[in-house]
Amino acid sequence: MSQIIQDIQPILTCLQQGGIAAIPTETVYGLAGNATDTQAIQQIYALKQRPLDHPLIMHISKEDDIRHYAIDIPDYVYPLIQQFWPGPLTLVLRCDLTKINPLVTAGQNTIAIRCPQHPLAQQLLQHLPFPLVAPSANPFGKVSPTSAQHVQESFPSADLLILEGGRCPVGIESTIILATDAKGYRILRHGNIDSTQLSAALPHHELASQMIEAPRVSGNLLTHYQPTKPLYYFTHVADAIAFCAQKPNTYVISSYPLSTFATNQGIILPEDPKLWAYELYDQLRLADHSTAQTILITLPPEEPAWQGTRERILKAGTTLLK
Ligand code: TXA
Ligand code: MG
Repeated sequence: MSQIIQDIQPILTCLQQGGIAAIPTETVYGLAGNATDTQAIQQIYALKQRPLDHPLIMHISKEDDIRHYAIDIPDYVYPLIQQFWPGPLTLVLRCDLTKINPLVTAGQNTIAIRCPQHPLAQQLLQHLPFPLVAPSANPFGKVSPTSAQHVQESFPSADLLILEGGRCPVGIESTIILATDAKGYRILRHGNIDSTQLSAALPHHELASQMIEAPRVSGNLLTHYQPTKPLYYFTHVADAIAFCAQKPNTYVISSYPLSTFATNQGIILPEDPKLWAYELYDQLRLADHSTAQTILITLPPEEPAWQGTRERILKAGTTLLK
């Protein structure tokens, strides 16, 4: 049975001895292990049931230097680090293949690196003499965990230490950008740091998708982040109301009052992108635990600040309207 603990010391010992442990970050909880230890990395892939061709993000401390791991680093990367690290931004860089365990990169010649902001994640990284790989601490394709309890319920029978770090303040995974081209970057996965903030930091540096060969990233999978119950998303509230009229036993996640949908199961979320991101995975889990048979979510607008949440909803759910 997994165990939630408050003390950082047993987590440090576990990681130093080649074990794996769940740790809080500001985005979601991660399943962490020594990024230089093949057996630790293998345990992570096995517990997550993650295909071996899905590379992992390496987490470094704010005292560490990307030049230890990456090569041919474009100049524009440094202002990004300056502005957004520690924080929810992952950089995919060309890597020195002699310095990175091939299981981390899934055999690609690029490495995803992130410097997390959560104080406990930083504390762990500063105490350890190696970086950590840390995919989200959930079975592959399922809803990511934003609390220690979520991790525990994701792996009920695993013998896993979980470091208590409270609710993750961001709530969705980091923004990932591909930074292998000196001319500019490309967003691979949307997150809390949005395209408006990136282009304010780096005017004229975002490249059109077709200019770069796409690497493997779960943002590219058609389905991901899925709850157990069917999740339907709707752009127009009238369609959502009509759906609920036919399926009254529905859990609704929306900015409209629940009475609009003639249901009392669900949550009204004010139209605030950060709040939706914070609540999304928690709400999908609450919906799974509820007596509802289906989950309905109204899709936020197609605007930069909403891209992270929209991307998760589009991958987690289906639409009835083509
Ligand atoms: O916020 C986060 O990034 C969280 C926390 C725990 O840090 N981690 C996380 O890891 O979301 P994971 O494994 O669930 O997602 C990592 C994503 C995957 O979509 C993977 O394909 C992509 O990063 N990725 C890793 N290395 C890559 C690479 N070299 N090139 C392109 N994509 C890469
Ligand atoms: Mg994940």
